[in-house]
Amino acid sequence: MDQIYAELLKFKKSPLYKYRTENKYLPVLGEGSLTAKIMFVGEAPGRKEAESGRPFCGASGKLLDELLASVKLKREDVYITNIVKDRPPENRDPTPEEKELYAPFLDRQIEIIKPKVVAALGRHSMEYLMYHFGLESKLEPISQAHGKAFEVKAPYGKISVVALYHPAVAIYNRNQKATLIKDFKIMKKKVLL
Ligand code: URA
Repeated sequence: MDQIYAELLKFKKSPLYKYRTENKYLPVLGEGSLTAKIMFVGEAPGRKEAESGRPFCGASGKLLDELLASVKLKREDVYITNIVKDRPPENRDPTPEEKELYAPFLDRQIEIIKPKVVAALGRHSMEYLMYHFGLESKLEPISQAHGKAFEVKAPYGKISVVALYHPAVAIYNRNQKATLIKDFKIMKKKVLL
């Protein structure tokens, strides 16, 4: 992980590198247990994350903590990262080029942690992970895919890819929060299997 972080620090190939350095932002590698059974993959850091270098530490992070607590998990029990490791300007969606550029770092993190469940937080990471694990024929909108677990073969064994709504959707919407709580329970069961 230290090696990956060192590479991110000097990742000049990224169109987000200049924006990061000009704003004195940090790359956000991810954090949590290196032996976690569950790995969460969000979209990209926001301002708070880029300032602190920690994933999900703003409003979405607060919701993520609540969702983790709803299935009796703490941040230290899981690993949390994003597909894109630098903040896109004005919190815009990461571009396909940015996702492709940063994805190899995520692939290496999955290989290091070897989680049993990879949980996609939102459409961007869901799409990437579905392609990465050969599930492109099963791709559907996140409104259909959320709460579903797809069994796939990783190089180190069988794992589940679980699609979840991004916690940001639940900040102002109680129904979405209830759905996320339900889907977190489905995800937790996959770890116990
Ligand atoms: N949203 C994300 O997708 N990732 C973060 O780290 C914070 C907000």
